[in-house]
Amino acid sequence: MTHEAGWAHAPGAMRGPSWLREPVDPNELVPQLWSTTAVKVDGELVVGGVPLPELVAEFNTPAYVLDEADFRARARAFRDAFSAYDVYYAAKAFLCTTIARWVAEEGLRLDVCSAGELTVALRAGFDPAHLGYHGNNKTYPELRRAVTEGVGRIVVDSFAEIERLAQIVDDLGVSSRVMIRVTAGVEAHTHEYIATAHEDQKFGFSITSGDAFEAVRRVEATPGIELLGLHSHIGSQIFDSSGFEVAARRVLALHSRVSDELGVTMPEMDLGGGFGIAYTTQDDPSDPEQLATEMSKIVEHECRALGIDEPRLSIEPGRAIVGPSMCTVYTVGTVKTVALDGGAARTYVSVDGGMSDNIRTALYDADYSCTLAGRHSTAPPVLARVVGKHCEAGDIVVRDEFVPGDIKPGDLMAVPGTGAYCRSMASNYNHALRPPVIAVRDGQARVVLRRETEDDLLATDVGA
Ligand code: LLP
Repeated sequence: MTHEAGWAHAPGAMRGPSWLREPVDPNELVPQLWSTTAVKVDGELVVGGVPLPELVAEFNTPAYVLDEADFRARARAFRDAFSAYDVYYAAKAFLCTTIARWVAEEGLRLDVCSAGELTVALRAGFDPAHLGYHGNNKTYPELRRAVTEGVGRIVVDSFAEIERLAQIVDDLGVSSRVMIRVTAGVEAHTHEYIATAHEDQKFGFSITSGDAFEAVRRVEATPGIELLGLHSHIGSQIFDSSGFEVAARRVLALHSRVSDELGVTMPEMDLGGGFGIAYTTQDDPSDPEQLATEMSKIVEHECRALGIDEPRLSIEPGRAIVGPSMCTVYTVGTVKTVALDGGAARTYVSVDGGMSDNIRTALYDADYSCTLAGRHSTAPPVLARVVGKHCEAGDIVVRDEFVPGDIKPGDLMAVPGTGAYCRSMASNYNHALRPPVIAVRDGQARVVLRRETEDDLLATDVGA
């Protein structure tokens, strides 16, 4: 029950959530939450062979620290485990030209969902034939550009888009390859999925209403548009394969019906992204091999039951590749203990970033963890809430974490698992300057995305 004065006052709030255990030593890293090269050496957090205090001395805080070896290893792990599939890295999780190059070098394809993401991919020299283009409201100029650039597949999402595309390929006298985004009536998030009535959303063509079949029919009837197959993405931060199973069954049933009734054998099918990662000790994600085994088994079983050949499959992981590869390092500015009802107290640790560099806590109630990154402490742990510096009470970075009780202004604080949907959803709220992304590898640090400057902020302020 929510307390009348707000959730912070609810009984038990000071113990933190039930999953959070008080650590014996709050200095220790929980390895599964960090990128693979992260270690503590005499209390200093070292990532990619670079001690974060040194990195901060050069680049300041807040900063996202990107572990190149970790990113590449995760990309490769997906490519190898899903070797019979095409793996598209979902750019929306995080994209810059360096990432696009790494993705290409590791043999993955790239899913973009906006003109901006397309521009970054092309600037990086990404092969357009290995790009997929998503979006529920692609404009005529966006589609025309995608076709002109030779984007490998456009995932169409509405009847209006099919018409726009038909006109474009006709005008240009070229052809384009498409997938059809379908809604399988499954919505999956974290440990739960719901397989009824989740068609009340903006993406895709509903299978149950018949729109998806009609979309296939219209695409098939359009000269210059080549239909590759159906596309289904059911949600994000998913741990349980049962949502994929139900979705795959429904999408394959449509795939089979298209073959029976229209005589069209679609060569491909995409099962989307959404594979979960560990943000805190409550999460226990599967590795790519387990995912590949489970998903292949599901598709094989369904295809056998339907008596159809298996289409070539593709997937679109974003978070599961880049999420654990980055951490954010902040400097602590203030430490405040606030008295609560019943004699309890909460320690608020304010850092020099917040909801402008990680909106996920405020927006999705996401849980994160953190560790002191610059020194070893012998102080016993206290339960703290790490907050940002924005003018908003909901500006929380880490809702509950045990930190050494002597935490003080000037300490470095690092938050793992910030690679996905943090920099990519960062804002200039309160005219904050978006932090840089510093890639680390073999003891070397280099800026791949620089810190914004006040000139960047003023660049759009024409002041007329
Ligand atoms: N494919 C499609 C069509 C998608 O819409 C998405 C994510 C992905 C792939 C990649 O999903 P991933 O593997 O990264 O979960 N901002 C939210 C997540 C939004 C995901 C949107 N679509 C968050 O921070 O949790």
